[in-house]
Amino acid sequence: MKPVKVGICGLGTVGGGTFNVLKRNAEEISRRVGRQIEVVQVASRTMNPECDTSTTEVVDDVFAIVDNPEIEVVVELIGGDTLAKDIVLRAIENGKHVVTANKALIAVHGNEIFARARERGVMVGFEAAVAGGIPVIKAIREGLAGNRINWLTGIINGTGNFILSEMREKGRTFEDVLQEAQALGYAEADPTFDVEGIDAAHKLTILASIAFGIPLQFEKAYTEGIAELTTADVNYAEALGYRIKHLGMARRTDLGIELRVHPTLIPADRLLANVNGVMNAVMVNGDAVGSTLYYGAGAGMEPTASAVIADIIDVARFMASAPADQVPALAFQSGELSEHPILAI
Ligand code: HSE
Repeated sequence: MKPVKVGICGLGTVGGGTFNVLKRNAEEISRRVGRQIEVVQVASRTMNPECDTSTTEVVDDVFAIVDNPEIEVVVELIGGDTLAKDIVLRAIENGKHVVTANKALIAVHGNEIFARARERGVMVGFEAAVAGGIPVIKAIREGLAGNRINWLTGIINGTGNFILSEMREKGRTFEDVLQEAQALGYAEADPTFDVEGIDAAHKLTILASIAFGIPLQFEKAYTEGIAELTTADVNYAEALGYRIKHLGMARRTDLGIELRVHPTLIPADRLLANVNGVMNAVMVNGDAVGSTLYYGAGAGMEPTASAVIADIIDVARFMASAPADQVPALAFQSGELSEHPILAI
């Protein structure tokens, strides 16, 4: 079968990770999907030293990708909600599938984007927009699809959790840890999004839309960040047997769905109190399944790339002509597995 032709807009932390993991795991992915994923073009104004782009065309202008008739999937990884919105809407108009990690874009403009995508019959994948590498959107949308969701809650900003963890464990200052989070590529381009709770509110808005089947309503979320917290607050909580965690919560009430993002005191022996560093965790409660928990890296180059690539693979399966190829198979679609036999022990 012909390869799926992909263009990646942006070669920063997530774009670079996506480019590298697609290359490194090319054989594994093509055996699993039954098709190769070929990155035809990458748009970036600066070179990412961690990426070997010698065999890929690199362009300055993102619209060279969006308007390239050969490209079937546009991967938007530049962030923000102005140029990114133009890229995504034009790609959809051009009949291309879109994959994005952009939570601000989906939370604020998602209703319009999905309406256009439906009209054009194209997919928009956004697994990487929430909780980095944790496939929580797929878990709610697919794995829990038979449930009435009662509530969900979790730590959904890696930078904030990293800051609170380092303040508690090592007594470091807020500013010092934030600088490290920026250097590690965890923080947003504008880190006030992380520390004022806006990034978590974007993600909670998206989760709630999927969990409760409601339109995206970012402006309705109560949003409070961690910027006012000091090492003394963190230590007092510890002395009282609690940890301060920045949580996003969405739950059904008699008056409607409640969306809240704010620092919360959690008894130190609870699961969520022990999610540390850049890790995220989301608990989802459904009427049939009860409570479920999803845990993993909430930010960073390759964890986020993992979710972006899962969406590219979803698109590749959706594009397959044979229905059997559209369904994730038990294992690999094709190829020899004999190189890794199961050990007889
Ligand atoms: N700045 C975000 C975070 C990146 O720290 O969680 C991943 O969405």
